[in-house]
Amino acid sequence: MKSARIIGTGSCVPETVLTNKDLEQRIDTSDEWIVSRTGIRERHIASENESTSDLAAAAARRAMDMAGVSAEEIDCIVVGTITGDYPWPATACLVQEKIGARNAFAFDVSAACSGFVFALDAAHKQIVAGAVKKALVIGAEILSRIIDWEDRNTCVLFGDGAGAVVLSAEEGDRGVLSTHLHSDGSYWELLYQAGFGARNPASAKGLADHLPYLKMQGNEVFKVAVRMLSDVAQEALAKNGMTREDIDLFIPHQANRRILEAVAKRLQLRDEQVYINVDSYGNTSGASIPLALDEANRAGKVKEGDILLFDAFGGGFTWASALVRW
Ligand code: ACO
Repeated sequence: MKSARIIGTGSCVPETVLTNKDLEQRIDTSDEWIVSRTGIRERHIASENESTSDLAAAAARRAMDMAGVSAEEIDCIVVGTITGDYPWPATACLVQEKIGARNAFAFDVSAACSGFVFALDAAHKQIVAGAVKKALVIGAEILSRIIDWEDRNTCVLFGDGAGAVVLSAEEGDRGVLSTHLHSDGSYWELLYQAGFGARNPASAKGLADHLPYLKMQGNEVFKVAVRMLSDVAQEALAKNGMTREDIDLFIPHQANRRILEAVAKRLQLRDEQVYINVDSYGNTSGASIPLALDEANRAGKVKEGDILLFDAFGGGFTWASALVRW
């Protein structure tokens, strides 16, 4: 059976860094509050002329460079994002055009912070089915454009960025071992963006009511996130007959340090097993796992044969895991 192996990783974050001290100048908050509640110290914020497809294309180029794969060889592009350039067309199509992947089909996946793992699942299954040989899987977000910068409950949490992997159809036991996806739409109102779509089309009143901005009930999200992230991680291990000791690197969605520490504790993981970089990027939603993976990979923290566990949770609610042999 074909296996989908990750043969290249790449990432891109905007140059501008917004620190907690900078936020102290804008809203009633403090570095101490943000660090103690979230572990976040700074985040990258896109400039006016940067859009999600720009970050995604840059991350994709770096992943293709590492893989030694040309744009013409890419058969499929899947982008996990909730902050695409436009409501449509898919940001994946804009990336295709930017990198010149003229032989690819391209589509977006909307699963909020779980977007990358859902996208990875889609591409992995195309490869296992024999329909695709090389795929680009990207998580990319410019959350700063849907943040209510007057809402201190949310604006301190998020950042912008993109991460990408190249998947290749190969024989052998390296690659994606399994993926596990879940959703529960009954939670949708705990984390969402009310405008502007078919339910609340564009209007001056909607803008005055801050409808185009992310809304979140943080406490409720926190509780469910810890439970679902732990359960779906265990599901991946059980499916593959593995235990927590088999995990070389656990790469969870970088929501905030307290969530990640609570999940790691439930899973009884050692600190060295858990990759955390939320302090430097904030929560970059669909981009956070591939961004962390690329950082770990380029720092030499991933070796051939290592077992990696990706674990994500986001609006919808959606939650998902993927077990990978490197
Ligand atoms: N600076 C200072 N004070 C603040 C700030 C801020 N930026 N934000 C909120 N506060 C205040 C609140 O107003 C509240 O004050 P009050 O008691 O006078 O009303 C107080 O701090 C405590 O607020 P809580 O919401 O209870 O704080 P909590 O400890 O729950 O932390 C947080 C809030 C960080 C949002 C937490 O609930 C959380 O991490 N939730 C998870 C949500 C998350 O990470 N979502 C990301 C998207 S989903 C995902 O990626 C999984």
